[in-house]
Parts: sequence; C-alpha cells; structure tokens
Amino acid sequence: MPKQNKASKRTPAQPKKAQPKKALPKSQAQPKQAAKRAAQPKKAPKQRQALSAATCDRHDLYERSVQDPDAEIELIERWSKKLCGAPARSLREDFCGTALLSTRWVASHPSRTATGVDLDPKVLASGRRRHVAELGEAAARLTLLEDDVRTRRAERFDVVCAYNFSYWIFTDRRALLDYFRSVHGSLAQGGLFTLDAYGGTEAMSVQEEPRQVKGGFTYVWDQATFNPIDHRVVNHIHFRFKDGTALERAFTYAWRFWTLPELRELLEEAGFSHVEVYWDVASDEDDTSYRPRKVVDNQPAWVCYLVARR
Ligand SMILES: C[S@@+](CC[C@H](N)C(=O)[O-])C[C@H]1O[C@@H](n2cnc3c(N)ncnc32)[C@H](O)[C@@H]1O
Repeated sequence: MPKQNKASKRTPAQPKKAQPKKALPKSQAQPKQAAKRAAQPKKAPKQRQALSAATCDRHDLYERSVQDPDAEIELIERWSKKLCGAPARSLREDFCGTALLSTRWVASHPSRTATGVDLDPKVLASGRRRHVAELGEAAARLTLLEDDVRTRRAERFDVVCAYNFSYWIFTDRRALLDYFRSVHGSLAQGGLFTLDAYGGTEAMSVQEEPRQVKGGFTYVWDQATFNPIDHRVVNHIHFRFKDGTALERAFTYAWRFWTLPELRELLEEAGFSHVEVYWDVASDEDDTSYRPRKVVDNQPAWVCYLVARR
C-alpha cells in the first residue's frame, strides 16, 4: 500500500485524528515562561534510553501508534451536541484495552463518568498502572470491568463506543447482531453508539505497511491473510526498533472484514433508529475532517465512523 498518498494515511496502520487542535509553539503561547526558561542555566540533557524489543512496553507502543483519544473525545462531543442536543456524560468504552479513552474522558470534565470493558485482565492491569494511577480524584468516576462486552447489565450510558475495529472479532451475523442488540439495550433513550470501520480497494490485499512513529520505532500493519469467500482476515501488528530488534506479532487479530452496508443493516436490525456514516473529507494530507456522507468515491484505503442513535 503506497504510504505517501492521502488515502493510505486512513488505514488502520495510521492513527486517527479528528482535526487536532493546532498548539502554538511553547515560546509563542507562554512568552513569560519561555523567557524565564531561557534565563535559567541549562541542565545536562537526560539520557533517553533507546527503544528496544527487550525494554519496550507493547501496550504503550500500541497506544502511540494507533490511538488518539483527544481527537475521539472531540468527535463524541460534536456528535452528542448535534444528534442528542445535550452533552454526553456517561461513556462506555467497549474492548477498552488499556482504557486510554476512558481515562481521558473522565479527566476531561468533572461531570463525566466512564466504564471500560475488556476480557483481558493483563491489558486492564496495564491501563490501571499507566493511566488510572495518575488520574487522582477523577479515578472515582471510572469503572473497569473484566468482562465480555455482550454481558447484559442494568446501567444505561449516553454513549457506547467500540474503536479500532475490535467488534470485528464477531465473525458471523448472529454474534454481531447479538452484540449490537446488547449495546442498544445499554444506551439511554437517544444515546449514541459510535464505532469505526476500514475498507478500500487495498484493504483486501495481503500486504505490510510500515510507518515511522515519533519516539523512534516503526509500526507495521500486516494484513497477513484475506479469504474472499467468508471475509475472514488475520492481521498482525509488529514493532521494529532502530537497534535492529523487533517485536514481531506483538498483536494478532483474527477478524471478519465487515462492509458498511452489512454494518448499517445490522445496526438497524438491532433497533437503532438513525445510522450515519462519517467520512473523512479533509483535502489536506495531514488533517482529517469527518462529515456525514451518503455517497463517496472509493479510495485505496479509508477509515470511517458509524454513529447510530437509539
Ligand atoms: C484492538 S484492542 C482495542 C483497544 C482499544 N479499544 C483501541 O481502540 O485501540 C481489542 C481488545 O478487545 C478485547 N476483547 C476481545 N473480545 C472481547 C469481548 N468479547 N469482550 C470484551 N473485550 C474483548 C481484547 O482483550 C483487546 O484488549
């Protein structure tokens, strides 16, 4: 997959950004502090340990490669304002992994609560250690559940989200419909279910796409197998380091590659009253701008969001 064109930046190999706020350089934003810093004697620079397969934390590398929680919070704010008319407060993050989004959500406003759900105790422990520990009093507004996302519970949420295509773990119609129905039942009336999907003419090819990540490592999205008969795919994530070491198959996903018409139909069948596809319409290579669309040209590779209202 060509790396330099705009479309390929929308593959799962790329972090998703929703028009990140452009920060001023620190020296422009805070002239007084910058002048003060300049007047201070310079400390010896800290020795930064180069990343290596032996010393890295694969969950940290994953987050730095494919997650952008602040951009996703901006999108949730925009969608809830537009589609619900009121700001969302309670968020459930399904397949939460290290619960990066949930921790940022509760930290972003004192009225916000979050519940992260994941089956894997190890990934939850990594999130507790690296994110929840530094939340302070906001941690009281976060719940992490080691459970299956399909478990029915009484609590209702303003928003449920399932990101980075994790729900593709459900490889047949009945299983995915069951999950969508359980999400529908977990939402407050008018609440939103937001999820992402990928596709495009290159998305069904067996190929590897490497990308340099800030901090000195290479992230590789490896579309290892694609079966056109049942759309079963196996994808891997590898991390490679400058010292020649690598974490091959740091993560492996055996998924069904779902198409947008299938997903829309299943969401409607599960009871959602209104389903929209948000497509990236940014013309600038480095920006993204997700807008509701009904008709678009196909691209070599794209990532979009579906937003479904209860
Ligand atoms: C690709 S990671 C997603 C991490 C994060 N949410 C993101 O956006 O990048 C998928 C996660 O789903 C979890 N998972 C898989 N099946 C699950 C299920 N049925 N219920 C809950 N979690 C599940 C895995 O343990 C894994 O942490």
